[in-house]
Amino acid sequence: MAQAELTLKQHGFGQTRRRDLWWLQPLAVFAGLSTFVIYTTWAAFQGEYYAFGPYLSPLYSPELFGESSHSWFGAKPSWWPAVLPWSPAFLILWAPGGFRLTCYYYRGAYYKAFWADPPSCAVAEPRHRYLGENSFPLILQNIHRYFLYLALLFVVVLAYDVWNALWFTDAATGATSFGIGIGTLVLAANVVFLGGYTLGCHSLRHLVGGIRDRLSASPARLKAYNCVGCLNRRHMLWAWMSLCWVGFSDVYVRLCAMGIWTDLRIL
Ligand code: FES
Repeated sequence: MAQAELTLKQHGFGQTRRRDLWWLQPLAVFAGLSTFVIYTTWAAFQGEYYAFGPYLSPLYSPELFGESSHSWFGAKPSWWPAVLPWSPAFLILWAPGGFRLTCYYYRGAYYKAFWADPPSCAVAEPRHRYLGENSFPLILQNIHRYFLYLALLFVVVLAYDVWNALWFTDAATGATSFGIGIGTLVLAANVVFLGGYTLGCHSLRHLVGGIRDRLSASPARLKAYNCVGCLNRRHMLWAWMSLCWVGFSDVYVRLCAMGIWTDLRIL
């Protein structure tokens, strides 16, 4: 077979022969993720207006310790250092945050949008050395599977919150009755989007279908593997829908709790 010697030429940062709007996607990812991180950080530091009646903001769920009626173990713990600001969200947000941060889709997205590594396919990057994810600190991204276990638990907890969001207490009589408000639907949609995102995880696919780098022969496991694969094909879409909706769910509960929005009851 004939062979030809090729010399790969390094181009300057951002150089490309692409003529399409290749910069649009990384720019949109940069704007979207920055907005989400800034908003959730702000919301986590508020420590108030995160619950309204039977609704609990997903950014504060599970509320392990806190002042609302949703708290599992009572008020702010006495062991919390007095010099540190306090919010119930500080105890839990690291888990879903770590899950998204180490997600294969988000990694590809923020490597491009925030580190320009590379800015896009076939566009020259600012570095000339490629280290991959084989050394510190990026090797820590392999922790994703363990965050998955936690994320699955969070989906169950958030589904339980939807159940709680079906039971309204009358302020005058103290009686509890079944009902559905717009907030119930908002929290339910959050579980659907988050479930679609979490159950489409690459690591879950390997977990349910694989045995030591091979596909399992068990029909049940192969079916589960294909189901996860179905969701995985739209993983980017689920990732963005769940990200936007979890932020909106917090906005909804917060504005209702502040008296700015009125929660309408459907039932
Ligand atoms: Fe995206 Fe696991 S790969 S959540």
